[in-house]
Amino acid sequence: MGIISIKNLSVSYGNIKILKNINMEINERKITAIIGPSGCGKSTLLKTINCMVEEETLSRVEGEILFKDNNIKEMTKEDIRKEIGLVFQNPTCFPFSIYKNMVYAQKYYGNTDKKKLKHMVEEKLKIAGLYDEVSNDLNKSALKLSGGQQQRLCIARALTVDPQVILLDEPCSALDVKNTKNIEEMLSKLSQDYTIIIVTHNLSQAKRIADYTAFILNGELVEYSDTETLFSNPKDKRTREYIEGIYG
Ligand SMILES: Nc1ncnc2c1ncn2[C@@H]1O[C@H](COP(=O)(O)OP(=O)(O)OP(=O)(O)O)[C@@H](O)[C@H]1O
Ligand SMILES: [Mg+2]
Repeated sequence: MGIISIKNLSVSYGNIKILKNINMEINERKITAIIGPSGCGKSTLLKTINCMVEEETLSRVEGEILFKDNNIKEMTKEDIRKEIGLVFQNPTCFPFSIYKNMVYAQKYYGNTDKKKLKHMVEEKLKIAGLYDEVSNDLNKSALKLSGGQQQRLCIARALTVDPQVILLDEPCSALDVKNTKNIEEMLSKLSQDYTIIIVTHNLSQAKRIADYTAFILNGELVEYSDTETLFSNPKDKRTREYIEGIYG
């Protein structure tokens, strides 16, 4: 039993079925990578896991997703998003200071104790590997940070509500090697305490950091296993062709 169980999940937009009967158990406190060609449904899967897909027009979800045995349909949106954070591909910092980005969610929940907030900000920025770079400048606009710093700020901000699961949609696609390495190191550390699902086009990245890897093609979960097996001994011909670079 995983922390998240995806059962017979299909997602359609209008008449077009995007995800087709996906069954998947997500293992707790591990990194699971989702790979597959552009348009195969990776982002749709992440958005379905935290119920964002329902906000897209004409979307329809069949099957079920359980979070710790609770059907997410029976949880409130607020609870789901507290437990399962989603960080988008392009950093979406709010146009406020770094500090205000970091305390936004806690203030929303009514926590205003300045000392506690300050401590929380420091702790989460440290986990995200950003603290040393910004500690003297917390009032600076978040939008003035570099792309890699903004991405780490978005991850730090996602941590401020203490989620159990973090979903990341291609967090490194716009980053250089050094920033990518920073994020990868941070994610490996984070996986000691959090369950991480990461969509990536970078197969070497999946190999480097993921414990498990899922390969999706045309909305179908073709293969899902521990990363080592998926890359070194794929069972499905389509997986082999994809990792050898034949399509996508
Ligand atoms: N809101 C929407 N309404 C209709 N179709 C959509 C919507 N969002 C995505 N799609 C379609 O669903 C399919 C899967 O999209 P999705 O964004 O999940 O792919 P992806 O695997 O994340 O691709 P990429 O690697 O390019 O990010 C695509 O054909 C896309 O055009
Ligand atoms: Mg996508």
